[in-house]
This record gives sequence, structure tokens and C-alpha cells, in this order.
Amino acid sequence: MKTILSQVCTILFVSLLLSSCMETKESAKIMPGEIWLDTDGNFINAHGGGMLIYNNTYYWYGEMKSGETYTPECNKEWGGTRVDVTGVSCYSSKDLINWQYEGNVLPVVTDNPGHDLHTSKVVERPKVVYNAKTKKFVMWMHIDSMDYSKASSGVATSDSPTGPFTYIGSTRPNAGFWPLDVSEDDKKDGNLAEDFETGQMARDMTIFVDDDGKAYHFYSSENNVTQHIAELSDDYLSHTGKYKRLFIDRSMEAAAVFKREGKYYFMASGCTAWDPNPARLAVAENIWGPWEELDNPCVGENAELTFISQSTYVIPVQGGKDAFIFMADRWNKDDLKDSRYIWLPIEFGDKDSVSIKWHDEWDLDIFGE
Ligand code: DGJ
Repeated sequence: MKTILSQVCTILFVSLLLSSCMETKESAKIMPGEIWLDTDGNFINAHGGGMLIYNNTYYWYGEMKSGETYTPECNKEWGGTRVDVTGVSCYSSKDLINWQYEGNVLPVVTDNPGHDLHTSKVVERPKVVYNAKTKKFVMWMHIDSMDYSKASSGVATSDSPTGPFTYIGSTRPNAGFWPLDVSEDDKKDGNLAEDFETGQMARDMTIFVDDDGKAYHFYSSENNVTQHIAELSDDYLSHTGKYKRLFIDRSMEAAAVFKREGKYYFMASGCTAWDPNPARLAVAENIWGPWEELDNPCVGENAELTFISQSTYVIPVQGGKDAFIFMADRWNKDDLKDSRYIWLPIEFGDKDSVSIKWHDEWDLDIFGE
């Protein structure tokens, strides 16, 4: 009798164990465009995001989109919907699938309408990098006025990846400096001369840290018409004055930069507010260029709309060879808090060709063992 009971218990225990393993396997999928819950069961709220990899942990930072979506009078002409700013969220994960909410690491300011972090402003595309020399976590982000005329970059620091971050301020980069390779004719151009005085307009942005620890700021400048790359100081807190105009007149936003086998890749979108458009891709042997523009890497249905999404970051998956994830936002411009995440594996072919295909669901095994 005792033996039968213990056999039944063993069978029960094993089947419970198996079913819990199967559940884990089931949840270990990335499902682009579906609702993605954190480990507390809440929607992941980290849009226009970026990833920090620190101590074998992934930290996902993004714009918190909460509350009502509305179109302020100043943005009616171009249909610029918004939500009031609530902060920058941080989530942590060991496996890129299960995300633990670490809090609002850059809360807004409610009592000073002049402050960059006031609810009425724009705080977008936060990117966090770790500075090994100062041991500080440095967050750069797009800071703007409600009508997007401020076009600046803000910076904040923290001693911990999970914050809180202390806001330092915002700037238009490189006032008083001419870009590399500027011609004497270009210097006479009214807009370039004005930007020389006031600093460069800077909206959508990303930060890329190279293998030698040097950090670069890529941002949409000159009213989003031309991309800039600018070198950051050793502490990553300011610009050195060395910068260059890239993709002149190609109107790109949502930059994401990664490096593979010594080559630099630049991904972006066109400029159509929250609406999707074809993804842009470029490759270079030197980060300062020349950059060669390639075709839209997306393949298949909705490829011309980047699978109804817009780039935000490319994640280098730890421990994988050629393992990179294209990270994008599927914006819901009428209800921004219901915007979703499109994460897809990047494939590399002959002659550095890059392609991105749709998957209803996929897991990291796609990158091989
Ligand atoms: C497109 C940008 O990529 C987004 O970050 C955001 O600024 C929207 N425009 C606002 O319409």
C-alpha cells in the first residue's frame, strides 16, 4: 500500500514538474505585436526604448506612455498626438523574455512648467550606457517642448542601473563648432551658420559605445533632414565638438546602431510622425564613414512598413555569434499607451547582407546553441 502511494506521489510530482517546465517553455517565446507582460503581470511600458547590458543582466529603458492620448493645439497641423510625460521606466531580465519592473527611474517634475522633465514636455528615446571610468550609468534622451521646437538632448546619471537617475540638463550639441568636412560654401548656408551659433538641433537619438569605450551620439538634426554623429567626452556627459553630418537630406529618425565583425550598421526610419514607413539601413567600416546606404532589410508582408513598426534599438544578444535583435515600436497613435513591441531576429547573408523576416513567435534558439 505504502509503495503504491509513494508511486502515485512520484507520478504526480513528475507530471507537475513536466507541466511547469512546459509552461516555462511556452512563455519563453517572443511574440511580436502581442501584449507583453512583466513578471508582476502588468503591461511592459517601455517605448522608444534601449538596452543596457551590465553584469550579465539586460536592462530595458523606455518612455512610459500612460494616461489619455490627445492632440495639443500646437501639433494639430501635423497630427502630433501625445501623452503627458510620466517618466522613464526600467525593466531587468536575464533571458530577454521575462522582465522584472525596476521602477520609474527618471520621474517627472509636476510643479515647474519650465523644467525639461515637466509633464507638458517631450521626453523620448532614453538610452543608458555605463561609463567604466566614472562608474556612472549615463542616460541620454530627446528633450523637447510640446511643439518639438526645443529639439535638444538631455542627460542624467545614476550610480545604479536601476536608478534613480539625477537629471543634469539639456543641450543642443556642439555650439561653436563646425562639422567635419564642412565646405566654405556650406558655412555660408544660413541654417548651418545659425546652428553653429546655437548648437545642433537634436531629436530622435541613440548612443553607441565602441569596443574602445568611446561613445557616440547619433541624432536627427537640421529639422530631421540630416543625421549627425557626435563624439562624447570621456565621461559621456558632454560633446567634444567633433561631429559629422551623415545621410544629408535623407530625413531619418529612430536611429539604432550596432557593430558586427568590425563593421558598423545603422538602422533608422523615415520621418512620418507615428506612422510606419520603410526601414533604412547603412553600413560603414569606420564609424565616421563613409556610410553606404543599403536597401530596406525587411522582407515579406508589410516589409515596406517595417512590419508596421519603427526601429528603436538593436540588441547584441550575449554569448551568441551573429545574434542581434531588431527592437521596434508599433505605435498606436490614437492610444499611445497601447503601443506594442516588435522584436525580430536579424539575419546576415553573403557580403554582409542583412535581412529581417516576420515571425508570429520565436525564441532565442533561432540563433543556435
Ligand atoms: C517620430 C519619432 O520617431 C518619435 O520618437 C516621436 O517623436 C514621434 N515622431 C512624434 O510624432
